[in-house]
Amino acid sequence: MALEKATGHDKKLQDRLIESGEIPKHIAIIMDGNGRWAQRRGLPRIAGHHEGVNSVRDIVEACGQLGIKFLTLYAFSTENWKRPEDEVSLLMRLLLKALRDEKDRLHQNEVQLKAIGEIHKLPQDVQDELLDGIEVMKRNTGLTLILALSYSGRWDITHAVRKIVEDVRLGSLRAEEISEAVVGRYLSTREFPDPDLMIRTSGEMRISNFLLWQIAYSELYISDQFWPAFRRKDLYAAIGDYQRRERRFGMVSDQLKKQEGPRVFPLSGMERFLKSVSKL
Ligand code: IPE
Ligand code: IPE
Ligand code: MG
Repeated sequence: MALEKATGHDKKLQDRLIESGEIPKHIAIIMDGNGRWAQRRGLPRIAGHHEGVNSVRDIVEACGQLGIKFLTLYAFSTENWKRPEDEVSLLMRLLLKALRDEKDRLHQNEVQLKAIGEIHKLPQDVQDELLDGIEVMKRNTGLTLILALSYSGRWDITHAVRKIVEDVRLGSLRAEEISEAVVGRYLSTREFPDPDLMIRTSGEMRISNFLLWQIAYSELYISDQFWPAFRRKDLYAAIGDYQRRERRFGMVSDQLKKQEGPRVFPLSGMERFLKSVSKL
């Protein structure tokens, strides 16, 4: 099945972004601000969640077109169960509807669907729809879309610790063997690389219990847009900003330049000009 391609001006923006530096392999997004987006318009909070689905569609499609391999979306946290019952219930209905409505399009766009979190806590019909989507799309080779549902970073780590202790008790793992890599393999994200870029919308400067272990060296980007207003142009701005960062992983600049060669950081127009002149 063929990926829907970007066209016109959008295609130009994407090409420019691809040319100007490295495209992150994994982006994680805390999709925040739905309620405030709606309230500012005198609408009920659920209207914001509803419009947020259109942002999800746009971002998923743009990520696929840019060749991003993994996109993790924080859709519902462990703590979100504490919200008023009617909001939780409307959110679950909306999730069910979105999964149903978007399945064919996602499949057509070669998206592989995955989920992390306490999936068993979701209403049965949501679980069924989710597992069906995962099954239908399991052989797709495009973007891997990971939905974090009833997810929290502390839950993930706690769950991993329990499984590690169980395996040590059963004798299939020795305590001395527990390394960072081993811990990583017990987390719900074991199949995916750590996010390169973590975006939070709505201007809030916090992690809200999202991927705690996995974001050790992710680049953080806070957008002032509320999630329902966050669209591909905002994603391109975030990626452009990411491309201008220097990811040092505890080292110093010179070491990185030696290790990775000149294409790690995008060249400015002037640098590109000087380089082309020096070849003449
Ligand atoms: C994010 O928007 C969606 C979920 C957490 C499910 P919010 O519902 O948190 O909206 P704000 O942050 O209250 O505006
Ligand atoms: C984080 O947003 C969770 C999701 C986006 C799913 P919240 O709105 O729940 O976070 P806080 O309460 O503002 O920290
Ligand atoms: Mg919020």
